[in-house]
Amino acid sequence: MNAGTPRAAAAALLDGGLVVLPTETVYGLAGRADDPAAVARIYAVKGRPSQHPVIVHVSDPRLDPTAAGSWISEAPAYARQLAEAFWPGPLTLVLPRSARATDDVTGGQDTVALRVPAHPLALEVLRTMDDIDPANAPHGVAAPSANRFGHVSPTVLAHALADLGELLTDSDVALDGGACTVGVESTIVDCTGEQPRVLRPGGIGAAAIERVTGLRVLDSAASGIRVPGALPSHYAPAATLVLAPDGEALAAYVDAAAESGVDVRRIGVIAMSAVPVPEGTARLLAPDSMDAYARGLYDALRQADDTGIAFIIADGYRLHHRGAPGSRCRRGQRSNC
Ligand code: TXA
Ligand code: MG
Repeated sequence: MNAGTPRAAAAALLDGGLVVLPTETVYGLAGRADDPAAVARIYAVKGRPSQHPVIVHVSDPRLDPTAAGSWISEAPAYARQLAEAFWPGPLTLVLPRSARATDDVTGGQDTVALRVPAHPLALEVLRTMDDIDPANAPHGVAAPSANRFGHVSPTVLAHALADLGELLTDSDVALDGGACTVGVESTIVDCTGEQPRVLRPGGIGAAAIERVTGLRVLDSAASGIRVPGALPSHYAPAATLVLAPDGEALAAYVDAAAESGVDVRRIGVIAMSAVPVPEGTARLLAPDSMDAYARGLYDALRQADDTGIAFIIADGYRLHHRGAPGSRCRRGQRSNC
């Protein structure tokens, strides 16, 4: 596997190789979306079950047949408003697919998930693919998060390489785009109904979607749509993760763990900077805003695993119900805690 330039990455993708691609949300493992063999390799490298659909990433946000719109067959007015307001950015739209979006990327569903990432390197790779191979432009790449299936998503290149590096070959490229500025995955919005429905909370909140569309946002509970990212085991660190509803509960959890024989130094705490953490525990993150919480969360979870932390107690106090960090922490909790 080569540490590459955007041009080398574009060439590798066009040849059917895979690229560890920085985006503003998390690093992706990218492969040409119209190359079934490349998409199949993404699944193999991730260890991901094949019925899980992937997001197609494109560079040109226009929802017409010469651009992002070439992957879909139709879009309601509110989807166009969302694309205009938030692309490039941490938003994925699920829309009825066109013939370009084959079963390989949709998992056999009649919809496709589309996103225009905001990271300049990701956009440069996609545009360079179009320059090198204009006959098949506009190109799209399938890119799930570049982690082993079920593990925490990578927010720096080293995290992706720790999970997948050994499975990549000389025809693949890893691009270093620095630390992801959002730090949790894109918000996924199902745009097949009369109102937008959030299938996965992420970088863009429901309030912003309501503001732009003037429509009430539904949440995923009643949709019946498969969102494999909602499996309880997703985003799980090896350590046991517990959410504390307030500072008092946080202290009580630490006491309980210590009383049951856990070495206090093996208890990691993720809490807003204003929340004091019990003495002797390892502070994994002290964010001063919800954005900083999201940006640092996955790194803190990996850091916990790397340093032998057995229990992570996260301050759930300020995590509002539909926010991205709250959703990720809830899913990161294992069923045995
Ligand atoms: O921020 C992100 O979205 C990152 C970066 C790399 O762009 N990508 C990412 O991909 O998180 P992945 O594969 O880890 O998660 C994609 C999610 C999965 O939960 C998948 O089930 C859902 O998108 N998805 C994909 N296509 C879908 C569809 N047609 N209908 C409903 N959900 C879909
Ligand atoms: Mg993922």
